[in-house]
Amino acid sequence: MTTLSKVSKVPRNGLSEEEPPPVNRRHFLNGSLALTGTAVAVPAGLGLSAGWAHGAEDAVAEFPKDFLWGAATAAYQVEGAWNLDGKSESIWDRFVHTPGRIKNGDTGDVACDSYHRYPEDIALMQQLNLRSYRFSLAWTRIQPNGRGPANDKGLDYYKRLIDSLLQAGIRPLPTLYHWDLPQVLEDAGGWPNRDTSDRLADYATIVARALGDRIDHFAVYNEPKTFTHLGYWEGKFAPGRTDPLDFLKATHTVNLGQGKAFRALKAIRPAMQVGGAFDVAPMAPATPSAADKAAAERWYKFLNLWFVKPALTGSYPEGVLPADQQAALLGFRPGDETLVRAPLDFLGLNYYSGWIVRHAPEGNGVPGLDTHADWAAGPHEKTDIGWDIYAPGFYELVMEMARHTGNIPIEITENGAAYNVMPDAHGDVRDKRRIDYLRLYLKALARAIRDGAPVRGYHCWSLLDNFEWAEGYSQRFGLIFVDFKNGLKRTVKESGEWYAKVAASGQVA
Ligand code: FCB
Repeated sequence: MTTLSKVSKVPRNGLSEEEPPPVNRRHFLNGSLALTGTAVAVPAGLGLSAGWAHGAEDAVAEFPKDFLWGAATAAYQVEGAWNLDGKSESIWDRFVHTPGRIKNGDTGDVACDSYHRYPEDIALMQQLNLRSYRFSLAWTRIQPNGRGPANDKGLDYYKRLIDSLLQAGIRPLPTLYHWDLPQVLEDAGGWPNRDTSDRLADYATIVARALGDRIDHFAVYNEPKTFTHLGYWEGKFAPGRTDPLDFLKATHTVNLGQGKAFRALKAIRPAMQVGGAFDVAPMAPATPSAADKAAAERWYKFLNLWFVKPALTGSYPEGVLPADQQAALLGFRPGDETLVRAPLDFLGLNYYSGWIVRHAPEGNGVPGLDTHADWAAGPHEKTDIGWDIYAPGFYELVMEMARHTGNIPIEITENGAAYNVMPDAHGDVRDKRRIDYLRLYLKALARAIRDGAPVRGYHCWSLLDNFEWAEGYSQRFGLIFVDFKNGLKRTVKESGEWYAKVAASGQVA
């Protein structure tokens, strides 16, 4: 790996005192997004061809020899077996069984049936030359009542899965919580209820005792911002609530839970490296006005730092909520500055696209935030799910998060694209656009590593086509095609074959 010079000025494991950089992104603003008035003006000739950066990236990007090439999934999205072997109902089970919530009425009841087919999936991972597999544990399998005793059958499933991965020479990277809260805990108030943080810590203790001897690396949460925002404020994800004040309380419980679960895991397995998977993104103000730039900075701190800064420093980013109301809005009690601390051993980053942000003087329900933010709404070509393809933002955010966190080792815990390509007459899935996407993003990542970002692994989202939350099965992110109409047959896509070569050679051409 090249030197860490560009990011090594900041002390390790201490959040940089520097404010986030002014939102004035070289590529996003001055290059790709020329913004005038209130409308997004796309300069002629920009878009994908400019995005396919010819100049900036190397013709052949070389990754470090020991780089962890991987793929990611999540329990609810692939396992199926939603009510087997003592598993209880999660908020996602409840949500998908509520009419009107999910496109086409799809559910994860069966999904990819990885609960039964994991040996086949692991054989496919070997075929893809993967060295790391990121998956999540279903709380409802392991501790069905959300409190109290463990369910041995649930734990046995994860023991079998993890042992099989280890036998195959693949590092297991479990996530403790990828959005599937036991419904019984939602009924008790869910994430806005402070008690849920203690429930998470108890669950973490069960997991560490039962599985800790097999696990060296662990992520506490997947995308804490997304599941609180979409679950409690926007209501598009389970449990479908739409109260911005509940949402704020949820963010604080989640931060408390992060600290408590971190300590619970370490208490049992001190050598375990514990981190998290945080969604990060660049912000572009909708216009060059000072008000929109300030709004974009608030959204930047909120989105990228709200769950990282408390873990590393015990305090929230300033300038997001009104200082005199913050404690009351969050339910922050004296001593919480210690409880939220979690000196993360590694930082997992999920990156897909950027936001366009404007000042919303009318407010948005969160006191003082006053933003209106559009996800993945840049001017570039879109993937099939409609997300703007913006690879330079990957470089920027990796560099910035390294700087903010003082060089904690980074793993890319998710990145990938939805392309809904079906098998051709020969049964082959020729998804060339996914290859183009991955090539572009991986070259941006290679540049960040070359410029000193301490990135040690990359997980493509996803190993398999799977249940894409509110989109159901309509969006295919997999390196492996799953035929949901014909016995869940798996077929390695052209992109999967390409990725296997990348993983074997460490080169992206
Ligand atoms: C991320 C989620 C993951 C998957 C991808 C496409 O936000 O963490 O589960 O749905 O998006």
